[in-house]
Amino acid sequence: MLRNILKLNRQDVKKNLSNIDYAFEIQRLKKLKKAVILAHVYQSSDIQDLADYVGDSLDLSRKAANTDADTIVFCGVKFMAEVAKILSPDKEVLLPDIDAGCTLEQSCQPEEFKKFRIKNKNHLAITYINCSAEIKALSDIVVTSSNAKEIIDKIPKSKPIIFAPDKHLGAYLNKITNRNMLLWDGTCIVHIQFSERELLSLKAENPNALFIAHPECPEAILKHAEHIGSTSSLIKFVSQSKEKEFIIGTEPNVMHQMKKRNPDKIFIEVPGADGNCSCNRCPYMALNTMEKIYLALKNSKPGIHLSKTLMIKAKKPLKRMLKMTNN
Ligand code: 13P
Ligand code: SF4
Repeated sequence: MLRNILKLNRQDVKKNLSNIDYAFEIQRLKKLKKAVILAHVYQSSDIQDLADYVGDSLDLSRKAANTDADTIVFCGVKFMAEVAKILSPDKEVLLPDIDAGCTLEQSCQPEEFKKFRIKNKNHLAITYINCSAEIKALSDIVVTSSNAKEIIDKIPKSKPIIFAPDKHLGAYLNKITNRNMLLWDGTCIVHIQFSERELLSLKAENPNALFIAHPECPEAILKHAEHIGSTSSLIKFVSQSKEKEFIIGTEPNVMHQMKKRNPDKIFIEVPGADGNCSCNRCPYMALNTMEKIYLALKNSKPGIHLSKTLMIKAKKPLKRMLKMTNN
């Protein structure tokens, strides 16, 4: 499946469009269509530099909810573009590559999730934003890695909770909130690739470097981290730290913002299990390219289309999230 997606991506890029100045054309079409470009920090650096706003999942949801643009070009993955559509249903939302999925989203299918909820009737369903609109519609509250702790801490301790779909983020949240939430068995393909052995040898080679990690990593990796947080929290941490060297336990494109804000600091990426694969890159985020952004704006597709009923249901837990936290 993954191999097919990558093959498709290469074929698309090979099309004879290479004489076009994509950055120039995108800016021109953007003005013409009154569009805004939102980009997640896991996008390639050229896309981040082109975007009107770059941020984590929560920042981008807020931007999508408040924009006055007619069209949102979402440079990220499908669940993020769906959130933009749900929060701004009257806008046209474009996703440059409609196959930009997510393993967490795939791990949690509505029929199974419905059964899980029926089996645990008294539980509140808190779901990570990395899931489909259908799963959001079956949930009570949505969270991101930026605000999950704050929201869970507001739920009375006596209320049982199910948390889906990321079991590693769920286990980390159980630990820091002192809860026993029932966890769905999903993982992120990027964050489970990091090798503890490689990390320890990197730490030994760079004794002054601080290791910081995203909570989608397994406990075996997180236990070595000096700071754990969402992508925006990791970016903030390196800017505020007096230290100069950092080992980064998340998708390495995040280092683009870190380097821009801290040109004098050193950032080191953690390799995957065999030491030299590029499996720490998100293959879904990588499907978006400058060429595809240009084509999306030019052709007004691929767009996100969801039924009204689904959007109304999925909006409730998203709105609850936005109301419950200012973070
Ligand atoms: P945040 O940017 O919210 O930390 O999420 C990371 C992620 O995995 C997005 O897919
Ligand atoms: Fe999904 Fe992981 Fe890619 Fe984020 S990095 S979009 S969680 S597969």
